[in-house]
Amino acid sequence: MSYRVIAACLLVFSLVFAGVGLIHAQTVKGKEDAKKEDKKEEKKDEGKTDEGKDEKKDDEKEEKYLTHHEAEETMEAMEKAWNKLKMNLKNKRGDVVAEQADIIADHAAKFRKYDGEVLTGDEKGKKARDQKDFKEWLDKLEEAAKEISKQANKSKWDKVDEAKEKAGDTCGACHDVYQPEEED
Ligand code: HEC
Repeated sequence: MSYRVIAACLLVFSLVFAGVGLIHAQTVKGKEDAKKEDKKEEKKDEGKTDEGKDEKKDDEKEEKYLTHHEAEETMEAMEKAWNKLKMNLKNKRGDVVAEQADIIADHAAKFRKYDGEVLTGDEKGKKARDQKDFKEWLDKLEEAAKEISKQANKSKWDKVDEAKEKAGDTCGACHDVYQPEEED
């Protein structure tokens, strides 16, 4: 064999070896990269679950809904304040009227956490508190009660009467749709 052939063979061999080596290196690197990516993903996921937990905690803190008993208590306090308000309006006791109106406004706000369900119709079984009309009645009641309080403190009785009508409308309107039948 001439040295040329040998040289050519060596060259071919070295090229082949270099090629294999390169491919090998590439695959190893590829695998390592893939592993790194996996780890990154894992870390991201861990981050996500932590965030998720925090969100849940916040939800629990914020979204504490009324028990059935608390809902009844809220409404009973509302009625008591409402009756006192009407009585003291007759006597034109502005300070007491304002005080009772404030109680009503607070309890209307509290009742946004009502946990009861829609009783009839297409939305039956969904939460009452998520319904547009339910929320609007509570908004209207709270707003009107605040107005009563403000005007009563100024002894503006016409304006108090006006706001009182608005507040009073919401009680019956909402009960007609959302108050369950009295259970024994
Ligand atoms: C946005 C709706 C809504 C408004 C507005 C509303 N209520 Fe109610 N009310 C309810 C619901 C729902 C119940 C039933 C609560 C339960 O038993 O779970 C209820 C129950 C009651 C009860 C019965 C409580 C009991 O012990 O069972 C009284 C009394 C009452 N409301 C008074 C009032 C008065 C007075 C007003 C107005 C100043 C008013 N409510 C405004 C929804 C409303």
